[in-house]
Amino acid sequence: MKTIPPVDLVRQHKPISEEIETAILDVIRSGRYIGGQPVAEFEEQFGQFVGSQYCIGCNSGTDALLLALRALNIGPGDEVITTPFTFIATAEMVTLTGAKPVFIDIDRATFNFDLDRLEAAITPQTKAIIPVHLFGQPVNMTRLREIAQKYNLYVIEDCAQATGAMWDGEQVGNIGYIGCFSFFPTKNLGTCGDGGAVTTNDPAIADLMRTIKEHGSRQRYYHDLVGINSRLDTIHAAILQVKLRYLENWNQQRREVAQRYHELLEPIPGIQLPQEVTGGYHVWNQYTILVEDSSNGSENKRDRLRQELQERGIMSMIYYPIPLHLQKVYQDLGYQAGVFPVTEKAAQEVLSLPMFPDLTFEEQQDVAYALKDCLS
Ligand SMILES: Cc1ncc(COP(=O)(O)O)c(C=O)c1O
Repeated sequence: MKTIPPVDLVRQHKPISEEIETAILDVIRSGRYIGGQPVAEFEEQFGQFVGSQYCIGCNSGTDALLLALRALNIGPGDEVITTPFTFIATAEMVTLTGAKPVFIDIDRATFNFDLDRLEAAITPQTKAIIPVHLFGQPVNMTRLREIAQKYNLYVIEDCAQATGAMWDGEQVGNIGYIGCFSFFPTKNLGTCGDGGAVTTNDPAIADLMRTIKEHGSRQRYYHDLVGINSRLDTIHAAILQVKLRYLENWNQQRREVAQRYHELLEPIPGIQLPQEVTGGYHVWNQYTILVEDSSNGSENKRDRLRQELQERGIMSMIYYPIPLHLQKVYQDLGYQAGVFPVTEKAAQEVLSLPMFPDLTFEEQQDVAYALKDCLS
């Protein structure tokens, strides 16, 4: 049986394998594996792509968030507002600084946090807001910026799933104070391992983030503050330099794949399709549908559908089955089940279909056919 995977990196790399392999070999042959020209060049090129004056490579999207929070001096006693419907790293890094993550419910149409609920969550302790451009869909940054300015709050953008996305023509990561990016392999710009970057236009914050990621050191063996070791490895920078050249094209292909899904799946009852919000340029890291379910706790319709699709060779994913406010690790924050009904319902109903730039029309037809068959 032919299977359709959720992502296919082998397929993505095939047409550019020579370029990637040459870049890797060049690094190996250079004998220089930490820092060096590929890292400096990639930081320059990625900063230019995002439109930010400063770009600093680091080990992961997780570290990018930590560097941003640390540079803004966020810590014990501070609150940071974010979404409960995201990968754990977003809130986890807030907790790691000693600050408290504060969640607000999401908007069912976008899966991003609901800006109508933002002001009510702001307290005198609030120091920053972390919008997460989930699945590649940018948050309404015009509105978010207005609220942040009104209350004098920092905005740290979690762009892990949205490299290349835009709000009102501006690249995400260059709209808030700091942009945090992940180059995890399945991201829109992914390397062959872990990687990340932060972007900003503030020279002092850029200097702090660079210093923190190098053990708090500006000059070798002289340490000004407590930092970490967070490097974008030379090999990854070299790979990313190659892949950055294809990013816009891949994002355009993802948009075409999404458009074809919209057309193929439109007539299927029982599911809700994701939409692109006016003003945003969605880059479709995921194409996530909602499998409407009113069964109230008996067998989960989405889980059954996922199983049936798998039996037909269609692999799908669930991002995320348990919202952050209900995770064991966050029990002490005191959120009860039912506080964020939109998020909790989404967690029961979301299903991410195969999505990658070179998914073929035939494969998408197979997905649509299997979905129709399972739901009829
Ligand atoms: C929204 C979001 N934030 C942060 C991260 C963390 O990125 P990384 O895996 O590179 O540490 C991820 C990765 O999945 C993510 O999806």
